[in-house]
Amino acid sequence: MIPTDFYRGRRLRTSPAMRELVRENQVTANDLVMLYFVIDTDDEDFKKEIPSMPGQYQLSLKQLEIKVAEAVGNGLKALMLFGIPKTKDEMGSGAYDDNGIIQKATRMLKARWPELIILADTCLCEYTSHGHCGVVKNEYVQNDPTLNLLARTAVSQAKAGADIIAPSDMMDGRVAAIRAALDEAGFINVPIMSYAVKYASSFYGPFRDAAEGAPKFGDRKTYQMDPPNVREAMREAAADLEEGADMLMVKPGQPYLDIVRLVRDNFDTPVAVYQVSGEYALIKAAALNGWVDEQSIVMESLVGFKRAGADLILSYFTEDVLKVLK
Ligand code: PBG
Repeated sequence: MIPTDFYRGRRLRTSPAMRELVRENQVTANDLVMLYFVIDTDDEDFKKEIPSMPGQYQLSLKQLEIKVAEAVGNGLKALMLFGIPKTKDEMGSGAYDDNGIIQKATRMLKARWPELIILADTCLCEYTSHGHCGVVKNEYVQNDPTLNLLARTAVSQAKAGADIIAPSDMMDGRVAAIRAALDEAGFINVPIMSYAVKYASSFYGPFRDAAEGAPKFGDRKTYQMDPPNVREAMREAAADLEEGADMLMVKPGQPYLDIVRLVRDNFDTPVAVYQVSGEYALIKAAALNGWVDEQSIVMESLVGFKRAGADLILSYFTEDVLKVLK
């Protein structure tokens, strides 16, 4: 005899409609942020695929506009910009130049799509000749002298129309410095989404090709977090909140889902997660080989972020996913 009083989980899995009725998490267009690399060039037609990120490009302003137009048509609500300047220098002056590439791109996008949310990655590494995220002296990235430059960058980005400032440098005290500078410049309503918990990860490899921002010497381990650490993530998040961060981000995503969950459970601000370039490259490479089904594996990876507690997701798959959701 088969007992009949056991749990039958399968009852609620009998059809797509039944499964959807009891679904606990889902990814919507409102949760997604697309990422774009925009390059300062006189060649309007410039559109160069990034070898380690098939399907992602370095784009001229014009090509960016074309891509964003298509994505907006598919439901894009928010995007983050990374800039590749014409020239780089020791102090990363392209980052806080009011005519820098991010500033130009932000002005162009906001003029055409005022309702689109533009996130500005606030960092120096794409603009410094040495490729580090701050001012370098004796081969060491100097914390406090960098703060002023980050604050200038944030104000310049806000002036251009950026809706959210997202510092990704991991200097101590940057959120406080940026908040003070934004307020002083009159941008009291521009929120800060700090890359609060950002690990020194090998998963950023392809990004450094894309943004041409790899460090010329050493690595980022004296400022980004050590991957094995958990408690330290709570300290970083708490410190950024005390300094005035409005949202917290965890980065990378998939290898750090435990951290997403911890940040979710310990803080009541919105939590963002960044599915970084290496995560994109791994999925893409396997998909291009026919080893996995790209669309379903992407959706599964994104809903995993929601399950872990993320409110918003920064992903290079956003454009593709919007098409699927539509
Ligand atoms: C800038 C920055 C990086 C990424 C986002 N902002 C590079 C780094 O810290 O080395 C990585 C994003 C990705 O890998 O997709 N500091």
